[in-house]
Amino acid sequence: MTEAVKAGFIGCGNMGGVLAAVAAKSGGAVYAADHNAFKVNNLAEAFGCTASDAAQIASECRMIFLGVKPQVLDKACAEIKGILAERKDRFCVVSMAAGVKLSALSAMLGDVPIIRIMPNTPCAVGAGVILYSRGGSASDEDVTILMDLMRPAGIISEMEEKKLDMGSALTGCGPAFVYMFIDALIDGAVRTGLPRTDAKRFAVQTVLGSALMCAQNGSVEPSKLKADVCSPAGSTIEGVAVLEDYSLHAAVMEALKASYERTLELGK
Ligand SMILES: NC(=O)c1ccc[n+]([C@@H]2O[C@H](COP(=O)([O-])OP(=O)(O)OC[C@H]3O[C@@H](n4cnc5c(N)ncnc54)[C@H](OP(=O)(O)O)[C@@H]3O)[C@@H](O)[C@H]2O)c1
Repeated sequence: MTEAVKAGFIGCGNMGGVLAAVAAKSGGAVYAADHNAFKVNNLAEAFGCTASDAAQIASECRMIFLGVKPQVLDKACAEIKGILAERKDRFCVVSMAAGVKLSALSAMLGDVPIIRIMPNTPCAVGAGVILYSRGGSASDEDVTILMDLMRPAGIISEMEEKKLDMGSALTGCGPAFVYMFIDALIDGAVRTGLPRTDAKRFAVQTVLGSALMCAQNGSVEPSKLKADVCSPAGSTIEGVAVLEDYSLHAAVMEALKASYERTLELGK
């Protein structure tokens, strides 16, 4: 039996915690460090992760995930830079910080192998997206290990770094937009008279089913699927007309643009 890959997570909050759980599900030996011991204990209890600290992770782990906010990333990198510089064995740093470029990461960490990833929280349920760009000295083996560790998360896809922030406005911020849509569907159904518990159950299943229809009819545009359910002078086209009156399409496009621009600002 091959030895489990040691994967360390420095920062185990909303996103780091999800990916630590994913790595544990894939069979990795997961080391978790966070200022907040409660988060680490939860990961230890639920997924068998080992409570650790940044220094141990930096000196021992094959893959070192940085799960802290971009605003405190420089501090977290300063804590481990010296330790990484001393290492003689192979390791790779994986940053999930939104908007922080590979060049900025290298400036903070020195010339070490780095992969930049953009995950989203649906990774927690195996239906997430992880986009990644590799830094110059990250090897094919580093990428293979990352993909093996993150396989239970969902889709993992390589992207040119200049497109990563565009992708992340969709996959990282997109879940919030979809939750808003589901919430609105629920309120709309309650307004027509459905009990809220039924409204939630049916709204979620409707979005899930519609997303699966898009996924399983890859060559068919969503606009065609929409047209297929709009019978002439029927009830659906009436609702579609109202959504167009309220500029749903334009609003979503503007939201993506605003999220992308803010991601660029945060990365400066
Ligand atoms: N949330 C998302 O949907 C999402 C999506 C894509 C990418 N990301 C990226 O994921 C990263 C984490 O975001 P998040 O939402 O998970 O943040 P979060 O929930 O605030 O988690 C970050 C955790 O790291 C801890 N921490 C900070 N500095 C540390 C250090 N030096 N050593 C150990 N622990 C430390 C924080 O503790 P204290 O707060 O006590 O300092 C906190 O518990 C960010 O870079 C973000 O851009 C997030």
